[in-house]
Amino acid sequence: MASETSPGFIDAARIEIDHALEQWLPQPPACPPLLAEAMRYSVMAGGKRLRPVLALAAAETISPTRIARQAALPVACALEFIHTYSLIHDDLPAMDDDSLRRGRPTLHVLYGDGLAILAGDALQAEAFALIAREPNSNTHELAERKLRVSGIVAQAAGAIGMVGGQAIDLQAAGQIRNRQAQLDGEALRAMHLKKTGALIRAAAVSGAVMAGADDRAIDAIEQWGTEIGLAFQIVDDILDVEGSSTEMGKTVGKDAAHDKPTYPSLFGLDRAREMADRCAHHAQQMLTDAGLAHGRLTEIADWVLRRRN
Ligand code: IPE
Ligand code: IPE
Ligand code: MG
Ligand code: MG
Ligand code: MG
Repeated sequence: MASETSPGFIDAARIEIDHALEQWLPQPPACPPLLAEAMRYSVMAGGKRLRPVLALAAAETISPTRIARQAALPVACALEFIHTYSLIHDDLPAMDDDSLRRGRPTLHVLYGDGLAILAGDALQAEAFALIAREPNSNTHELAERKLRVSGIVAQAAGAIGMVGGQAIDLQAAGQIRNRQAQLDGEALRAMHLKKTGALIRAAAVSGAVMAGADDRAIDAIEQWGTEIGLAFQIVDDILDVEGSSTEMGKTVGKDAAHDKPTYPSLFGLDRAREMADRCAHHAQQMLTDAGLAHGRLTEIADWVLRRRN
């Protein structure tokens, strides 16, 4: 799946996103300084920015204009706030108990569990405040799109999305007292679609909605996002086995150490890789069928599959 689009899109989007994230993080004195510092520490630690880049890429696929990009930027950053909160909580001792994230000590290692929990909570709320507030021009059309993406992001973040997937993950790893459950392949797929896939799908759909996509395009991008979200977590599972901590900026080998069900543990590395490739192939087919393969999404799919971090 070769990329024919300009090589600078992802890097340029990241710069714009980092700038906006910095600007939209809550600041003292309204925000208690230590909480602001903790939120900033985790959000500005780097990270690939896949979800916000994806939201901008989807917006550009629908409308390659500055206006569409500006309309999608707040929800793109809101998704990064929610994703960062999910990582802070995922790393807590009560969950995956990780000490390294984005190449730095995890937030709870530096500030304690209590402030890490609160920084995560605050990032989630801040995400919705941001979607409601920006862009602050209040045309009827924009207000309607903002309302629609708030619902999309809320569903993806909550009980039927990321949080739901994390709950299944905890149960499967035997971390819910007296409630251990074994996952077969289908249940593992369902868990991955929720814990990681939901926010990735929401990023693609939200970008498209903010750029004014019609229902047919939204539908195709949603299906694309579902496949790419699943591929992303399969690759995450693979990299936990064969990646390097230095490149990834997080501990590797922890899924096996915690006896987590993953694509490599259920199917082996080679089949897991094939399955990720197959998801990307389906995703590309959907874009082609919808006449959307010209845009940046093909480039993003390529990145998701080939990444080493
Ligand atoms: C890590 O996500 C957690 C998963 C959902 C697998 P990323 O690999 O996108 O993490 P960052 O944002 O680059 O740190
Ligand atoms: C986490 O999955 C998914 C989230 C919702 C954060 P993992 O537990 O595999 O993510 P990493 O490997 O710690 O980044
Ligand atoms: Mg986890
Ligand atoms: Mg984890
Ligand atoms: Mg992982």
